[in-house]
Amino acid sequence: MKKIAIFISGRGSNLEAILEKKKRGQIDCDVAFVFSNKADAKGLEIARSYCIPTFIYDRKAFSSQNEFDDKILSLLEEHSVDIVVLAGFMMILSRSFIEKFNGRIINIHPSLLPSFPGLNSQRRALDYGVKFAGCTVHFVTPEVDSGPIILQDIIPVFDDDSEETLMLRILDREHIILPEALKIILEERYQIFGRRVVLSK
Ligand code: GRF
Repeated sequence: MKKIAIFISGRGSNLEAILEKKKRGQIDCDVAFVFSNKADAKGLEIARSYCIPTFIYDRKAFSSQNEFDDKILSLLEEHSVDIVVLAGFMMILSRSFIEKFNGRIINIHPSLLPSFPGLNSQRRALDYGVKFAGCTVHFVTPEVDSGPIILQDIIPVFDDDSEETLMLRILDREHIILPEALKIILEERYQIFGRRVVLSK
């Protein structure tokens, strides 16, 4: 069975969506551990409630990004992790880290990429006046929020939406497509042609 690690920095609702699907037997994998760069991330409590081991490293305790990344890499190697899921992990991993795990890291982003990469995507979508917003699961490449797209989902933007209401409606869809994309990757039901991820049944 494939092993995954889930990286978080905060609330952990996407983490919970994955753990719940796994509990119901809808995703078949071992969750080796949950990693957080924040000791107060709420998601750590969720991980513990599902009896998943947790690791927390604070970037400030390391003298360089490389040293920090190497520490995480050795954790992944020690646990023979096959796939890393970034589920609200608010840190940029180094190029060398990503290259070592090339094609085996996925990320959930709260916009229809390539629109609104980076931070505060929901607010920027609202301010821009788009009529549809959504979320994207993609492979992680060294350029932020730019890797090949695995799944996307869309929602309409309503005239009376606030950043909060839009964020929550997008989040509902994130909880569907992240576990679904993970399942596709675990079952190797895809091929990559350039930037295009073609899914098989
Ligand atoms: C989500 O909106 C995700 O798309 C973004 O960070 C947020 C994390 O939420 N990358 P949660 O911690 O999974 O609740």
